[in-house]
Amino acid sequence: MSDNKNFSPENRTMKNMLVTGGAGFIGSNFIRLVFHKPEFTGRIINLDKLTYAGNAESLGDVASIYGNRYVFVHGDIRDSALLEKIFMEYEIDTVVHFAAESHVDRSIEGPAEFIQTNINGTFSLLETARKIWKDRADVLFHHVSTDEVYGSLGETGYFYETTPYDPRSPYSASKAGSDHLVSAYHHTFGLPITMSNCSNNYGPYQFPEKLIPLMISNIRQEKPLPVYGDGKNIRDWLYVDDHNEAIWQIIHKGINGETYNIGGENEWENIRLVETLCEIMAEKLNRPMDDVKKLITYVKDRPGHDRRYAINCDKIKRTLGWKQKYNFETGLRATVDWYLSHDAWVQSIQSGEYQKWMEKNYRER
Ligand code: NAD
Ligand code: TYD
Repeated sequence: MSDNKNFSPENRTMKNMLVTGGAGFIGSNFIRLVFHKPEFTGRIINLDKLTYAGNAESLGDVASIYGNRYVFVHGDIRDSALLEKIFMEYEIDTVVHFAAESHVDRSIEGPAEFIQTNINGTFSLLETARKIWKDRADVLFHHVSTDEVYGSLGETGYFYETTPYDPRSPYSASKAGSDHLVSAYHHTFGLPITMSNCSNNYGPYQFPEKLIPLMISNIRQEKPLPVYGDGKNIRDWLYVDDHNEAIWQIIHKGINGETYNIGGENEWENIRLVETLCEIMAEKLNRPMDDVKKLITYVKDRPGHDRRYAINCDKIKRTLGWKQKYNFETGLRATVDWYLSHDAWVQSIQSGEYQKWMEKNYRER
C-alpha cells in the first residue's frame, strides 16, 4: 500500500491537525511554531489530559490570537469514545502524537502510568485512526518518539534508524512498545505513518524536573544541584524549535512508513553542562561563580542510568534537507533568560501535584 503513489507526501490534506499532549513542553512549542508558518491555514485540535506536566496557560496567547483555528480539548488519549468524537467532529486528517508520560525518574518510581498512557493510549489513537480513516491516503499519523529506545552507548558509536531497540527504563520500554505498535499498524493495516526518534530537548516551557530547567530553578533558589552518579553520563542536546521544525518537515515531505532520527550532534557530559549553567546563571544573577558552583551535589545514581546517547541524523539531513539552526551557547542563554522572565509560569506549574512528588522523593535521595 505504501508504494502506491496516492500515499505521496504532496497528497496529504493537512487541514485539521490533532496534536496530542499539546499542553506539554514540546507539543506547546510545536503548536506555536505551526501557527507561525504562513503556509499553514488549517486548524489545530489540542487534546491533553493536563497531567502534572501539562499547562494550558502555556498556549494562552495562541488561544486568543488564533480564535477558532485553535481548539483545546481536555481529555485522555485512552478515551476511545472521545477520540472518535474528535475525529468525526473536526474531520481530523493529521495526527501529531506527543502525549506521553515522559520522565525517566518517575517511570522508576511508578511505571504503571507509563504503560497506560504511552502504550494503551497510543493503541487507542491508532485504533481510532484506523477505524475512521479506513483506506484514506491523504491522512498521516506522525508518532513522536525518543532515542532512548535504542538503549545506551559506550564511548563511541551512534544510534541509527537501523539500530536494534534495547530500552532500559520503564519509560523507554513504554516508548519502544508504542513505536512497535505504530509500525505494526502501518505494515498490517496500511495506516499512513511517519515516526521520529529524537535526542534530549531543551528550551522554554520544559517542566522543571528535567535536567536543564531543574538546575536553572534550583540555582535561582540557591538549592542543591543534584548530579547523579559521577556526572559523566552523556546526552545529545537539541533546541526544541529545531526538533519541531524537523517534525514539520517530516509531516510534509517524509515518506510514508519511514522513521527519522533527529539529534543535536551536541554531546555534553552532565557535569560540564551543569557547570556551564552555573556560569551563565552567576553572570545573569550577578552572584559570585564559586557560590553558585558550590551548590553542585553528587547524589546516588539513577538505577539503570543509560551512559551515553548520540544520534546519527544524516538521513533527515540528506533526504529532507533539515538541519539544526540553534547554537547551544545561544540556545542555553535564551532558555535561561526565558525561565528568569517567566517565574509566574514556573510557580504555577510547580504548585500542583509535582510539588508533592518532589518533596517525597527528594527527601529519600
Ligand atoms: P511533557 O511531559 O512535557 O508533556 C506531555 C504532555 O502529554 C503533557 O501536557 C500531559 O498533560 C500530556 N499527557 C500525558 N498523558 C496524557 C494522556 N493520557 N492523555 C492526554 N494527554 C496526556 O513531555 P515532552 O517533553 O513535551 O515530550 C513530548 C513527547 O516527545 C513525548 O512523547 C516524549 O516521549 C517525546 N520526546 C521527548 C524528548 C525530551 O527531551 N523531552 C525527547 C525526545 C522525544
Ligand atoms: P533528564 O533531563 O531526566 O533526561 P533523560 O533521563 O531522559 O536523558 O536527564 C538528563 C541527564 O541528567 C540524565 O543523564 C540524568 C541526569 N540528571 C541528573 O544528573 N540530575 C537530575 O536532577 C536530573 C533530573 C537528571
